[in-house]
Amino acid sequence: AKVLTAQWDVEYIFWSPDGEEHMVMGINGEFPGPGLRARVGDTLQVNVTNKLHTEGVVIHWHGIRMKGRPWADGTASISQCAIAPGETFLYSFTVDKAGTYFYHGHYGMQRSAGLYGSLIVDVAEGEKEPFEYDGEFNLLLSDWWHKSVHEQEVGLSSNPFRWINEPQSLLINGRGQYNCSLASRYNSSAALPECSLGGGEQWAPNVLKVLPNKTYRLRIASTTSLASLNLAIGGHNVTVVEADGNYVQPFSTTDVDIYSGETYSVLFTTNQNPDENYWISVGVRGRLPQTPQALALVNYLPNHASKFPTSPPPVTPQWDDYNRSKAFSNRIQGLEGTTPPPPADYDRRIMLLNTQNTIDGLTVWAINNVSLSFPPTPYLGALKYGIKAAFDQTPPPDTFPDWYDIMSPPANPNATTGNAIYTLDFNSTVDVILQNANTLQPNDSEIHPWHMHGHNFWVLGYGDGKFQRGDEKLFEKAGRRPPLKNTAVIFPFGWTALRFVADNPGAWPFHCHIEPHLHMGMGVVIAEGVEFLADVPRETLSCGLTGMMFSGNGEEG
Ligand code: C2O
Ligand code: CU
Repeated sequence: AKVLTAQWDVEYIFWSPDGEEHMVMGINGEFPGPGLRARVGDTLQVNVTNKLHTEGVVIHWHGIRMKGRPWADGTASISQCAIAPGETFLYSFTVDKAGTYFYHGHYGMQRSAGLYGSLIVDVAEGEKEPFEYDGEFNLLLSDWWHKSVHEQEVGLSSNPFRWINEPQSLLINGRGQYNCSLASRYNSSAALPECSLGGGEQWAPNVLKVLPNKTYRLRIASTTSLASLNLAIGGHNVTVVEADGNYVQPFSTTDVDIYSGETYSVLFTTNQNPDENYWISVGVRGRLPQTPQALALVNYLPNHASKFPTSPPPVTPQWDDYNRSKAFSNRIQGLEGTTPPPPADYDRRIMLLNTQNTIDGLTVWAINNVSLSFPPTPYLGALKYGIKAAFDQTPPPDTFPDWYDIMSPPANPNATTGNAIYTLDFNSTVDVILQNANTLQPNDSEIHPWHMHGHNFWVLGYGDGKFQRGDEKLFEKAGRRPPLKNTAVIFPFGWTALRFVADNPGAWPFHCHIEPHLHMGMGVVIAEGVEFLADVPRETLSCGLTGMMFSGNGEEG
């Protein structure tokens, strides 16, 4: 195993992700940030210097479990104090599971500002993946707004509420097109003019150079702020082999749904007419699309990359065909031999009702009627050093009233803000039932991709309507092997049942990966086994009550 080191300066830079120049949060002058690649067992040491001048920053390593090093998880208010302007923080952690991951800012809505990049973990030297391929490509998907993230944040916490609306563009590896489309040439009545590109632009599409009759691995990760996506390659089917850093039972499909926070690997074989090039298209699902598809080119060599595909880009499936989305999600199964089955039973079940509410005229999201607001002292330090005043010590509710009507807007839309946490018994098996509900608008319920830090969970199943006792068993009966994931979606008016083992000492957020939703309170914090941590490094604790404690001018709790 190796030690890989990097020095990263995080700063605002000018960039044209979609042809219009704006400020983005870059790393070492690049957008997206530098890609990281390591092998299982390697240690990554990323020294992050905050050059933002007026705001803090942290970097979260999405999908890496941080076993034994919860302070390296990179979540402001949870695992550490935000790195202050001008200061440097060393993230040092080991990667213990091969797969496709990414990293991103986890303070305010900095992910939406462009603070992200890819992180790939290869199998250890001498080990093999359970599938073969001749080459690979990496596609990091995101959505992009022209309005600054600060303006978006202020809008979300204003009365009247100002929603961020749909993105101006979708990006593949930070590249998209705005106000023009490469697809317009196939449609004489296209709304957008055809883009004219030389190829050297920051917003020129990615070109994947392939040879005929080979198999390629496409690593796909979605760090979108809002959009649920669907990816397809013109003329080619793909075989799904990995999801969220876990191998899955391979299956062939024409297209892949991918929610914010998810990663996939798919294989495709270049078995189509080699005289042609082909489009990869990525479009919006789950919300009425207002954003053109993002495109990348599959360039069969020796064709020239400027040779336009004869066929138009694949059409994204109907945005509200949820049955199609559910069918796709249900096809993801653990791969026998790599994915252990879940424990047969749970020790504790937590039911989490997802609702849209109002607090003092502001629109929020709440879980069991509590909208999460982060405290100034990081939970991890507060727990380790017993600082009770750091957050509300009364645990949040484990369930919601039985009479709650998930099919209608909340009868009483008021919620409360809170920062209490779910403390789990170390090594216990916990079930979470995520229950979706109607928003504040009649006949409306949204998709929420829930992401858990520090753990993988088994997705026991998805269901429609209100969860009934025993429903999670339906899938066992169907003989389906639950996959391990770190992100799972809840469908409109439905529920999703998850199971995990609380075996990773630390404090971990579990939240909707839609950036504005988390900002509006859509998450919870879980903690387990903090007493087993020998130490929590001081450099993560320089703020709030821990800051006072260690600078010697404050009192503990
Ligand atoms: Cu990728 Cu807590 O997030
Ligand atoms: Cu959400």
